[in-house]
Amino acid sequence: MDKEDYQLDMNNIPAHIAFIMDGNGRWAKKRMMPRTFGHNEGTKTIRKVALEANRLGVKAMTVYAFSTENFARPEEEVQFIFKLPKKFFESYLKELIENNVQICMIGHLDKAPKATRDIINSAIEQTKNNTGLKLCFAFIYGGRDEIVHSTKQIVQDVQEGKISINDITEDYFNSTLMSANLPDVDLMIRTSGEQRLSNFMLWQLAYAEFIFTPVYWPDFDEKELHKSIWLYQNRERRYGGLK
Ligand code: IPE
Ligand code: IPE
Ligand code: MG
Repeated sequence: MDKEDYQLDMNNIPAHIAFIMDGNGRWAKKRMMPRTFGHNEGTKTIRKVALEANRLGVKAMTVYAFSTENFARPEEEVQFIFKLPKKFFESYLKELIENNVQICMIGHLDKAPKATRDIINSAIEQTKNNTGLKLCFAFIYGGRDEIVHSTKQIVQDVQEGKISINDITEDYFNSTLMSANLPDVDLMIRTSGEQRLSNFMLWQLAYAEFIFTPVYWPDFDEKELHKSIWLYQNRERRYGGLK
């Protein structure tokens, strides 16, 4: 099937799609290549999928690029991944800017090496006025860590008298998260066949639709995106109510 075979309802495109980009290592292993080869290939998928999501009118796309738990990997692999933003933006930032894409990020950029921080901050700065797709990198990100981070900030604000306990509503809590400027996640897609969240966007996924596909991230493409959105459009979202 081609991507056009999935007839999409253009009035029901998910506003925010979050990806757990998994399977880079296994994709490479299948080809008798080192895991890093898969990570490199995976960056090409980000470009492809972001441009297509932008064309379809998706407002935001978050990609899980490095989790707080991924520090448990061999130092060599971690260092390789930390060098990928430079490669990614040197290759694709110009094209993303031409397509009005805005770069953003959630996570602890302060824990990344200076060169990585600088390149990401520069991409954010250069695209801050763009009004197309928000391409948000979850980098050195953990869902529990994010919630604890917000909680500490809120407690401090209460202690300093800036807000009172009664001000702490769901909307207020949401506005303190790293993802505050993004719409709620409508669709979460995890590649590689694993069916777990691995500490990804625990708050934001409260009412997202989940799709787990066996496809490894480097093989995910425009057609897979169309298929996922088509599947999403055939789900019934009830939010606790009745049809
Ligand atoms: C996802 O691919 C990328 C990161 C976690 C950085 P993996 O590296 O987890 O690939 P597999 O799951 O080992 O195949
Ligand atoms: C989740 O994938 C993290 C990212 C995609 C960045 P992992 O491969 O690290 O997840 P687990 O270890 O299989 O749960
Ligand atoms: Mg994995």
